[in-house]
Amino acid sequence: MTPSLGLRGWLRLPVLALASLSWSFVSATSHSFENTAIVRTVDLGGSLVHVTTTYAIRALDNGAQQYLVTLGEKEAHSTSWFEAKLKGQNEPLTIATRPLIPHDGTYAYIVDLPKPLGVNGTVNLVVESVLTHTTYPWPEKASQKDEQSLKYEGDLLVLSPYRTATQRIKVRAPAPRIISYTTPKGLDAFTTDNVATKSSATITYGPFSNIPPSASTAFIEEHQKHIVVHYYFEHPVVEITSLKRTAEISHWGANLNIQNDIDLHNAGPALKGHFARIEHQSQSYFNRLAPHIIPSLTFHLPPGIHSAYYYDLNGNVSTSRLRLTPSIPKAAQMKQYSTLELRPRYPLLGGWNYTFTLGWDSPLADSAGYDASTGLYVVSVPVQTVIPGAVVNQAEVKIILPEGATDIGVFPPFSPLAQERSTHITYLDTIGRPSVALSFENLTDKHNGLIYVTYKVPLSAHLQKPKAVSIAFGVLFLVAFLARRVDLSLSK
Ligand SMILES: *[C@@H]1O[C@H](CO)[C@@H](O)[C@H](O)[C@H]1NC(C)=O
Ligand SMILES: *[C@@H]1O[C@H](CO)[C@@H](O)[C@H](O)[C@H]1NC(C)=O
Ligand SMILES: *[C@@H]1O[C@H](CO)[C@@H](O)[C@H](O)[C@H]1NC(C)=O
Ligand SMILES: *[C@@H]1O[C@H](CO)[C@@H](O)[C@H](O)[C@H]1NC(C)=O
Repeated sequence: MTPSLGLRGWLRLPVLALASLSWSFVSATSHSFENTAIVRTVDLGGSLVHVTTTYAIRALDNGAQQYLVTLGEKEAHSTSWFEAKLKGQNEPLTIATRPLIPHDGTYAYIVDLPKPLGVNGTVNLVVESVLTHTTYPWPEKASQKDEQSLKYEGDLLVLSPYRTATQRIKVRAPAPRIISYTTPKGLDAFTTDNVATKSSATITYGPFSNIPPSASTAFIEEHQKHIVVHYYFEHPVVEITSLKRTAEISHWGANLNIQNDIDLHNAGPALKGHFARIEHQSQSYFNRLAPHIIPSLTFHLPPGIHSAYYYDLNGNVSTSRLRLTPSIPKAAQMKQYSTLELRPRYPLLGGWNYTFTLGWDSPLADSAGYDASTGLYVVSVPVQTVIPGAVVNQAEVKIILPEGATDIGVFPPFSPLAQERSTHITYLDTIGRPSVALSFENLTDKHNGLIYVTYKVPLSAHLQKPKAVSIAFGVLFLVAFLARRVDLSLSK
């Protein structure tokens, strides 16, 4: 059991310390680096757009260690995941996360390099980010047999507080058939060549050379360009508007129950005209369903689960297929899964919503550990069950601990927007169960970590349940006894 993954979240700079770093800090560091090259690749998708930016950095001062990555205002608002690594390494670098530091029309992340660079020292920094809500269906409506196409909108140039010798931006569509893309004008200051070239599914902007420090309103107003790319997208565009996950830990039943209440939205183009079932059936038969018609959803659930259930507003849905994988050692758990294919009662057409509940049980031992030296239990609960390519707009993860649990610690893999504690009372509980609820927004496929909770359960609390059960039985016997007496007296 390694709660250290979750603990990393607590090691980040506290919010207040961040705010006080402020403007003077930003301007003080702005002369200490130069970008010898920036290469950005934007991978267009449905709800999620993955961006990889490589900064080849050269230090201009001795001891330069804090590098600022800046984002334009719109980009900052749509960036839901952000991670920086040194090229070729797996361990992410420490970054100060939200709230981002606003600075002259941009927002900055501070990335701590592992060690200070000397003058002319170089390093390659790879920044991965995931954007949400940057695409929309275009045209907005499509008939049952139309293809699905989306538009992506964003800013072109990578902004930086440092001078940039050269930068290049590649926008990669999922397929070579790109309907249209912007070729911006007015970049003559940075290039004498073609601004945009398309080759197969990739549009390359630049290279642009000799860009002065660009993280300022003045630069943005003069030089930043807005681009639009219109492309075909052959997969469903899924948005989870709301996910409520409840994980209930039961020592008494040695069980971990996970239930998900899901509001799903098909964010593809809305259906034009009426839904024709005959046409739908023939398209399904020939496997030619348009991607904006979703007949089923596939989930990767943890190994070792049992008693999976799935119901919607109309009751149980039996047309689901579950392929189980047995429990396996914890170390391998992230790589193996059970597969559940849900088939709603009707196909989900573009613009439609679908509300359903999906739950399962699993042996508590698969996700729990006990440290005898501290008396602490550690239980891990996944933040979400990722639906590939989907964004989760609002998520609340509630973890219900055993009755009487004390010394509760919560270690999320990334900071939640809010964290709340309360007491949850169910059947046969006497003092109620402590619970913690974490809320998140805009979760992506990168947000697949585990929340670790640690707690103690005093012996007296272990006895609460048997006590409650025996009292309940006692009452039952008494009632039965009285009933029998009454019954007897009646029959006399
Ligand atoms: C750093 O590189 C520049 C240009 O290549 C060179 O002029 C300068 O002398 C170098 N400085 C040091 C301290 O190596
Ligand atoms: C749904 O199925 C579960 C178990 O499979 C059962 O306990 C429950 O009563 C069913 N509910 C409805 C509304 O059919
Ligand atoms: C689906 O839900 C969204 C909000 O979550 C709402 O704006 C939209 O009108 C709903 N669509 C339908 C067809 O009910
Ligand atoms: C989530 O995305 C929505 C829509 O883009 C945005 O309004 C909201 O601020 C985002 N939330 C967070 C916490 O970034």
